[in-house]
Amino acid sequence: MAQYPARQTLNASGRAVVPGLVDPHTHAVYAGDRVAEFELKLQGANYLDILASGGGIASTARAVREASVAQLVAETRPRLDEMLRLGTTTAEIKTGYGLTTASELAMLAAIAELDQTHPLELVPTFLGAHAIPPEYKTDPDGYAQLVIKEMLPQAAEWYTNSHFAQQGIPFFNDVFCEQNAFTLAQARAVLEAGLAHGLRPKIHADEFNALGGVRLAIELGAISADHLDVTTAEEIALLGTAETIAVPLPAVNFHLGSHHFANARGLVEAGAAVALATDLNPGSAPCPSMPFVMALACRYQKLLPAEALNASTINAAHAIGLGHRLGSLEVGKQADVLILAAADYRHLVYQFGGNLVQTVIKRGQVVGK
Ligand code: NIG
Ligand code: FE
Repeated sequence: MAQYPARQTLNASGRAVVPGLVDPHTHAVYAGDRVAEFELKLQGANYLDILASGGGIASTARAVREASVAQLVAETRPRLDEMLRLGTTTAEIKTGYGLTTASELAMLAAIAELDQTHPLELVPTFLGAHAIPPEYKTDPDGYAQLVIKEMLPQAAEWYTNSHFAQQGIPFFNDVFCEQNAFTLAQARAVLEAGLAHGLRPKIHADEFNALGGVRLAIELGAISADHLDVTTAEEIALLGTAETIAVPLPAVNFHLGSHHFANARGLVEAGAAVALATDLNPGSAPCPSMPFVMALACRYQKLLPAEALNASTINAAHAIGLGHRLGSLEVGKQADVLILAAADYRHLVYQFGGNLVQTVIKRGQVVGK
């Protein structure tokens, strides 16, 4: 079009062209790994028991507390490289492995530095309420109060002074509402405190136990409710009429060796806006690949390829507040585009285990081939 003269021309004939993938739920910034725990789980140990015994999230928190911002950035950068190669052009990243004010702020600094030095576009989320750290084991309410009174105000101030705020990138406040993590009452208190600082809620709800997190999310106008593995039929119906986006995370079920998956088909039928995400993290989903997540969602959650692509692009962009600018190929939107090594986009979910993404274009620039 004469109105949009090309600086560079790419030949995509015989290739499917789709929007860059958006991963709206990750814990990509962490130190170390949990490969020993993986082996324990293969031998029968369970995720919530490991968490209760001071392992799990708390063990990653030990590694993150010892790491400098530079180390966090260095360990995370190759993960972002891999995500980009697999077609993710925008991702949300949560804190939540610091669990002290200083260490949570260090995670935010790492996210900011990565956003400014890596082509993958990032959206930060504060997740101080991810786990009860060992030093608060006997006083979980005391930790929730630390999150509310000390961490959230400082995180909100960090955001106000960050390039994210200047560029209109939102900042969310998340909580892990689950047995051995945060109760429904604590989750409410943390999310309401975030709202008082202008932070819109997200929630980890119904991963193992249904504690009422979905109703809370809807009541508080959360932008998304994530996991939803054991969400009740009533709450699925509520999500069908709510603005809150439903985000199943099937790589978690897969990694934990479960044969049970969130009812994504039921959510779609109920009228919910469904987005998919990797949940990339060292404990429950060491998975950088949105196409693999889409492949799982089609096979085990009965999404069609078009629904999986929709859930990984435009709906995922809305789940992090960027649907107006990202997530679809439209005049006026940011040119985040993938060229696939296939003529039919359905191959992106039909084939799995390899990488069908041939060319990655971010903000109109080729960033990966
Ligand atoms: O989304 N469920 C809580 N948080 C992460 C897991 C984090 C971890 O195990 O390190 C999740 O699954
Ligand atoms: Fe998560």
